[in-house]
Amino acid sequence: MAIFFDEGSRTFTLRTQNTSYQMQADGRGALLHLYYGPAVDGCCLDYLVTHPDKSFAPCPSDTGLDRNYSFDALPLEYSCQGSGDFRNTALEVVFSNGGNALDLRFHAHQVSPGKPSLPGLPAVYAGRDEAETLKVTLKDRFSEVYVHLYYSVLPEFDAIARWAVVENRTNGSLVVQNALSASVDFFGTEYDVLTFGGRWAKERLMSRTPVHNGRLEVSSRRGASSHHQNPFMVLCDRTATEEQGCCYGFSLVYSGSFTAFAETDQMDQTRAAVGINPQGFSWTLGAGECFTTPEAVLVCGTAGFGSMSRNYHKLYREHLCRGKYKHARRPVLFNNWEATYFRFDEEKLLAIAKEAKALGADMLVMDDGWFGKRDNDLSGLGDWYVNEKKLRGGLKPLVDGITALGLGFGIWFEPEMVSEDSDLYRAHPDWCLRVPGREPLRSRYQLVLDMGRPDVREYLFGRLSAILSSADISYVKWDMNRSMTDVYSALLPPGRQGEAGHRYMLGLYELLERIEAAFPDVLFEGCSGGGGRFDPGMLYYHPQIWCSDDTDAIERLEIQYGTSFCYPASAMAAHVSAVPNHQTGRVTPFATRGAVAMGGAFGYELDPGKLSDEEKSAIKEQIAAFKRQYELRSYGDYYRLNNPTENRRYAAWAVVSSDRRQAVLSYVSVLSEGNPAPQIIKLRGLDAAQQYQVVGKGVCLTLTGAALMYAGLVMPELPGDHQAAEFEITAI
Ligand code: DGJ
Repeated sequence: MAIFFDEGSRTFTLRTQNTSYQMQADGRGALLHLYYGPAVDGCCLDYLVTHPDKSFAPCPSDTGLDRNYSFDALPLEYSCQGSGDFRNTALEVVFSNGGNALDLRFHAHQVSPGKPSLPGLPAVYAGRDEAETLKVTLKDRFSEVYVHLYYSVLPEFDAIARWAVVENRTNGSLVVQNALSASVDFFGTEYDVLTFGGRWAKERLMSRTPVHNGRLEVSSRRGASSHHQNPFMVLCDRTATEEQGCCYGFSLVYSGSFTAFAETDQMDQTRAAVGINPQGFSWTLGAGECFTTPEAVLVCGTAGFGSMSRNYHKLYREHLCRGKYKHARRPVLFNNWEATYFRFDEEKLLAIAKEAKALGADMLVMDDGWFGKRDNDLSGLGDWYVNEKKLRGGLKPLVDGITALGLGFGIWFEPEMVSEDSDLYRAHPDWCLRVPGREPLRSRYQLVLDMGRPDVREYLFGRLSAILSSADISYVKWDMNRSMTDVYSALLPPGRQGEAGHRYMLGLYELLERIEAAFPDVLFEGCSGGGGRFDPGMLYYHPQIWCSDDTDAIERLEIQYGTSFCYPASAMAAHVSAVPNHQTGRVTPFATRGAVAMGGAFGYELDPGKLSDEEKSAIKEQIAAFKRQYELRSYGDYYRLNNPTENRRYAAWAVVSSDRRQAVLSYVSVLSEGNPAPQIIKLRGLDAAQQYQVVGKGVCLTLTGAALMYAGLVMPELPGDHQAAEFEITAI
């Protein structure tokens, strides 16, 4: 049992392996948040809530002349507009009379085994014995508006999945202006916030900021979760480190515009919340209709960031990713993008494939440029018909040629987009997002199809299915290369245009669901100009996502470091590419590029025909090593051993098998130094009493887990910049 209700005090306690979450319907029926953090058993924590007279604090009418009871500064589970809470609230609805006030009070609750799915939205899933779900229903004191708050507790992962359903049981329509997925009020302001921002080719760089007076917000208004911020925020103790202290992850299972914020209030409390970005959003709810928010997954790490991340990794690998490739081995692939860009034909692809096969790869992926009139990025998107000028004879002979070599074949699509120079656009200019009377903004010369339209989805399903059925295709890279603008749908009336962005996401999710159900053996990789939509919503459909268009090994250190706070290594597609690197011009050793890419879902992005024999044998060794270590690297426990952004000299990380008998340590020395001091790396997660053999980079040692973790391993001297060393650590 994970959910406990005390009838007398109307207190709910959600208990995971290491944490407690407590809330209470107080004497007036307000649902107060009492506690979230390391497990506290056998205690009702309502003594923490005080009611001092605060002045300027509005009191609800049912408090009579008691001027000490106000929502102005009470810790609330799901605060709403118009009830005297002046902080940023979780909910705002506007009634047909123009009023926007609500006063939500406890109405009912229900506990059930397992975890429900969310209509039309991706979400964590769990069996009846893996989770328990609490539904708390609140009702507006003055109307028939109900809000159902859901809490699915997954004890093994110290996780609570939260979402809300707003139900309109009034006789008229109302407009939801804001409905966040989760909001938690913490006592105190001694917290820092970790956020994961950046830009194209520099995604998810971790930064740590103390909460401050006012509001610290990260968000996207780009119609996608974006390169620029990730829908993931961590609130943590000021003293929290990788190994110590308490931290609270707020991860939104959504791929569209979002907000995540931490706000301090007058009484030194901190509100952390996450959900759909209310800017530009509104949703009309007719009588009897419901609106379901996306899900927010909260994981509380009681032993530092590492404990939180490892729980997210396991949870998302096992209870968010789905389909055959949740567990099946993923192919080591060669992608032709950086090898050829748009300049390829079937001969070129076959030549790459032959080399790739000889080096031990499993798949060739044909990237952008195989369809329509697509010789550059000016044209062709939407015309998902094979360009027979490039692929003479069509797709089948090429795919047959590649599969005959013993390789799988993968293909690139960018279904959500359309080029103005395309047959699709000429036939259906109204299918893209555009504001009437205005020219839509171009980005990468392309426009965005309105995924909220059933006819658009039908067309895309038809074309994608036709291509996928026409040959033996076992992988799809689903790309998306611009931010959304002109978010206006021709199918919606003017007063409902605030729905267009969310309807786009619901439509996209529906299409993904349909196409992936029709092709269950195909591995789908997500992509959005690299990592522009690297989020749990996409992970539900794609077990791996192209981490970044920046394939430079040194830049990837920080990108993959930041990504690892929420997302498992198996989700981060990472490739070895050619040097000088196409994004940075930097030259890094082949071994370093391999060590970094093996930190994710591994592959190559180069023309093997242009490599030296020495580089080819390095590829053979890398692929063999990756395949040997596949289970460990894909499903092992991930330990960040330093912060490469703070310490610009080196980066180190390790994966340890769940039985602690095997580990791989990866170390990259970023810049070499004259007269270098010895670098000692302390492992984590090993069995202290166990003897291990450590092999790698000229090292062959037998040491106990205790020695490796508490005394550490001395790194060999690595002359030259950007050098890497990897060590296999095996129990003996
Ligand atoms: C952006 C992706 O991230 C690249 O890997 C490549 O597929 C290009 N799009 C193709 O246009």
